[in-house]
Amino acid sequence: MTSLEGRLDDLLREDRAFPPPETFRESAHVTDDRPRESAESDPVAYWERWAGELHWFRRWDTVLIWEPPHARWFDGGRLNAAFNCLDRHVDGGKGGKTALIWEGEPGDTRRYTYAELRDEVARFGQALLDLGVRRGDRVAIYLPMIPEAAIAMLACARIGAPHSVIFGGFSPDSLADRINDASARVLVTADGGYRRGGLVPLKANADAAVASCPTIEHVVVVAREGRPAEPNNVAMAPGRDVWYHDLVARVGAGCEAVPMEAEDLLFILYTSGTTGKPKGVVHTTGGYLTQVYATTRWVFDLKEEDVYWCTADVGWITGHSYIVYGPLANGATILMYEGAPDHPDRGRFWELCEKYGVTIFYTAPTAIRAFMKWGEEWPAGSDLTRLRLLGTVGEPINPEAWIWYHRNIGGGRCPIVDTWWQTETGAIMITPLPGATDARPGSATLPFPGIEAAILDDSGSEVDAGYLAITLPWPSMLRTVYGDDARYRDTYWSKWDGVYFAGDGAKRGADGYFWVLGRVDDVLNVAGHRIGTMEVESALVDHGAVAEAAVVGRVHEVKGEAIAAFVTLKEGRKGSAQLEIELRAHVATKIGPIARPEEVIFAADLPKTRSGKIMRRLLRDIADGKALGDTTTLADPAVVETLKERYSGQEG
Ligand code: PRX
Repeated sequence: MTSLEGRLDDLLREDRAFPPPETFRESAHVTDDRPRESAESDPVAYWERWAGELHWFRRWDTVLIWEPPHARWFDGGRLNAAFNCLDRHVDGGKGGKTALIWEGEPGDTRRYTYAELRDEVARFGQALLDLGVRRGDRVAIYLPMIPEAAIAMLACARIGAPHSVIFGGFSPDSLADRINDASARVLVTADGGYRRGGLVPLKANADAAVASCPTIEHVVVVAREGRPAEPNNVAMAPGRDVWYHDLVARVGAGCEAVPMEAEDLLFILYTSGTTGKPKGVVHTTGGYLTQVYATTRWVFDLKEEDVYWCTADVGWITGHSYIVYGPLANGATILMYEGAPDHPDRGRFWELCEKYGVTIFYTAPTAIRAFMKWGEEWPAGSDLTRLRLLGTVGEPINPEAWIWYHRNIGGGRCPIVDTWWQTETGAIMITPLPGATDARPGSATLPFPGIEAAILDDSGSEVDAGYLAITLPWPSMLRTVYGDDARYRDTYWSKWDGVYFAGDGAKRGADGYFWVLGRVDDVLNVAGHRIGTMEVESALVDHGAVAEAAVVGRVHEVKGEAIAAFVTLKEGRKGSAQLEIELRAHVATKIGPIARPEEVIFAADLPKTRSGKIMRRLLRDIADGKALGDTTTLADPAVVETLKERYSGQEG
């Protein structure tokens, strides 16, 4: 926990408070603690009220059935997530409102009203049915940030086919693993997507993956609009591959939304854990939609006229909950952008904010730290006065970055919501309510109304600093790990009885505020991306030269954490700068560029305890350039000294 302790020291010096600005509070949905208090007195009735704001084909019989660790929310109820995101607004007279504004990296744009988006989703839903996809069948989605990503997700939801979105930066191997784990029947991809001026070859990756995916019957390919040539520059396998535009041209007005059981699977989303194999986090329909709807409304203080931009990728949970389901369930106008923040220059995000009049902006601390590094002249070059609320998610934000964000993006007038949650929680759990809660830089503040959190020690007693725990079931909680309920129990529910273990360390101030410090397990958070150390280690030992590998996170100014890989080589192999490049590239090819180690340190031996356990704490200290703690339990203390010397030699 050494890096956590360092962060704790920083935070203890942080005593600034930022109350909600009066002008903001005047029109905010929530302006005081009353909702929190009423939710506390009866959380079940509170969540039931939120669910009542959605459209149900059939009302539920029971709000919550809790048989730890399994919950059923709104049992007996029937609803459709896509219907709630689209038809409900069209039927309510908002069909002409802009639902989605999209801008591609090269500057091409598209706009969809709610009526247009509903029609497109219904057409693609029908197209999937025509391909033989049935309720309950899994559909894999591997797309760039183009409207079809949201359309494909909603089309799946409309016909009751759970989707599994795989981030477009993942390698063919990673894609294949996820497709196979879910036995998906159809893969939706594109001929490419733009990133920093170049085209990411998604279809080629998809072809490489599908070669080892026996359950895939069809690959639907979106022709990324704005491409210079006819979409004929990718190979299409006859009988298997079909163009998206051909499919939707063939179908009529499209299909109706299927009434789904509240506990029917809405989607699977894979995330890294402490083993080499990613977990398929399972989210169901009624509870998930209720909590993403509620949190979007209150945390972002969403209003009819807002233009809302969440910069995440749909391949992550933030994209699922706060680009697609939460904002659209609220009938919001959302902005979606395809590319990089520094293309063609470092002012791109701020030009987008000005051009579309963005009022709510939600991004990751790693991005904010990059903006800081690039300099305040970039945001200063655009008119950001329409912004009224800022958010952060994905990792702890250092107070310095918070203050910079507040001043340079928010003009000192916008509240910041630092939202703590996870793929597993499905929706925001700990967060300020911007019109009610005093913000403190670096703290996610208090649980959302209806959520109960605590900090516990190993024995389950409440402490000031320890493990973050959720003590009551919540509507958008994961229901299981796909195909592996034992892993669900072991990972999240085996530490304490009936209490959820989040895997994060946290501390609590005298005011009750939560300060999330970071992971306490072998999961890294690199630029807001969750990566398991074991996954990277498996990728390294997959290389012919590597005998053993140990991966740790080290402090990184922009990314938060960077990957340092300690590697011992097989007999007869010698470490070299060339081999380091090769190994880093090997990991990028096996998993995806996000997992590429920042550095590879060749070691004759790894520091181990006498029982043979690798001492990662020591490796972390070496990578962070820190003084080493206790090394007396090492089998061979000399190993560490040699490594330290080697490490500082390589750095210089
Ligand atoms: O360590 C916490 C960190 O991100 C982890 C969850 O990662 P993932 O499932 O990929 O979801 C990210 C987007 C919700 C958590 O266990 N984390 C997320 N938000 C915060 C955070 N750490 C500190 N403060 C946050 N606001």
